[in-house]
Amino acid sequence: MFGKQDIAYRQPSQPQRVAILAVEQGQMEEVRQVLDLADPTRRTLSLFDGGLEALDGILDRNQFDLLVIHSVVHKTADLERLELILGEHEGLPTILLSAHVTPEFLISAMRSGVRDVLRLPLAPEALRDAVERIEHKVVHIVTPHEKRKILAFMACKGGSGSTFLATNLGYALGKQGAKTCLLDLNLQFGDAALFVTDKVPTSTLADVVSDNMSRLDAAFLASSMCEVLPTYSVLPAPEDLERAAQIRPDQIDVVIKLAAHRYEFVLLDMGRALDALSIKALDSADYVYLVMQQTLPFIRDAKRTVEALQALGYSTDKLRLVVNRYQKGGEIQLEDIELAVGAKVHRTLPNSYAAVSAAVNQGMPLASFAHRDPVAKGLEAMAAELIDRPEAKKPGWFSNLLHHH
Ligand SMILES: Nc1ncnc2c1ncn2[C@@H]1O[C@H](COP(=O)(O)OP(=O)(O)OP(=O)(O)O)[C@@H](O)[C@H]1O
Ligand SMILES: [Mg+2]
Repeated sequence: MFGKQDIAYRQPSQPQRVAILAVEQGQMEEVRQVLDLADPTRRTLSLFDGGLEALDGILDRNQFDLLVIHSVVHKTADLERLELILGEHEGLPTILLSAHVTPEFLISAMRSGVRDVLRLPLAPEALRDAVERIEHKVVHIVTPHEKRKILAFMACKGGSGSTFLATNLGYALGKQGAKTCLLDLNLQFGDAALFVTDKVPTSTLADVVSDNMSRLDAAFLASSMCEVLPTYSVLPAPEDLERAAQIRPDQIDVVIKLAAHRYEFVLLDMGRALDALSIKALDSADYVYLVMQQTLPFIRDAKRTVEALQALGYSTDKLRLVVNRYQKGGEIQLEDIELAVGAKVHRTLPNSYAAVSAAVNQGMPLASFAHRDPVAKGLEAMAAELIDRPEAKKPGWFSNLLHHH
């Protein structure tokens, strides 16, 4: 059996079989009217009245391509139950209609395998769009949750190159086909978007969390971002300090979690402040990349940063030290750095002054015009390692023949 949410498959020539679960006749009618039922070769509809307790039996007895649940599911406990039922039925695509959509509910809903949550009162267009999205995605592959990565980038000291590396790593990941976004969490001095795009952003992190998050869902978040590639987008930091100051840690948490539902890689440009907000972000990160350089002032600050993060309870396994603008045979060796900082060096990236400056000054990803540049190559390798697609590493039949044992 397929894992939940991994693959949903339907023969395109068959009508889409839709089930509606609701408790009131009026609710069923509401959904029925929205769906185009004029052509039974395109779509058929079955109505069921009842709660979740009825659902398991219904799905056991019938085959459906889509399930629409009107109201019924309200609480986290309902979602847990729904998750179990959907898991039993090969991740049947499900749309929830609910009057009480909080960001937390949305996150739990998506966690439990629900495809879409639409707010009531029902907007007919939104339901039609959601149904068609599911209908046309004959084969729909969602990355299993475990593979998603949240990577935080932090400069040990100003000018380490953390924003440059994070934004350009995002580009490399996107180029290699991984759906990636970067959230600029450097709230006071954020400039990440400018590193990779000359587009004028239409909204920022402040807009996403405004109105008490009433509009926030994964789709709204995605549409608020500035697109660099179809597979790579950046959410800029707020423009003014006043709006930046109003952002709360719990809001950051929700934004990161929503992003993690939609993107394979979520990169966080952290800035250097260690406060409630950045700690919330670091908590959610799988790894924290600490960017430094090969001179004494950077080493001192790297040591302080590592100590501070350890004091906050982050394990050394979570920290990845990156030495940027590294020169082999320089005065200070990598071993010296490791010894002084008290952490292993995870990776080095070379110095490439002219090309990197040109990229930064033009607001273009380095690899978009200098893909042979050693820094671009380093980031490309870093992205490939992060993506770690098993099929890329598996030896083919030919090499199996050669290395027979
Ligand atoms: N590998 C490199 N080779 C040459 N120049 C580099 C390299 N990496 C970064 N730079 C240069 O360093 C400058 C500072 O980088 P960046 O703004 O990314 O630093 P930061 O760590 O984010 O600093 P801040 O703390 O101010 O946010 C960049 O404008 C870029 O020109
Ligand atoms: Mg920066």
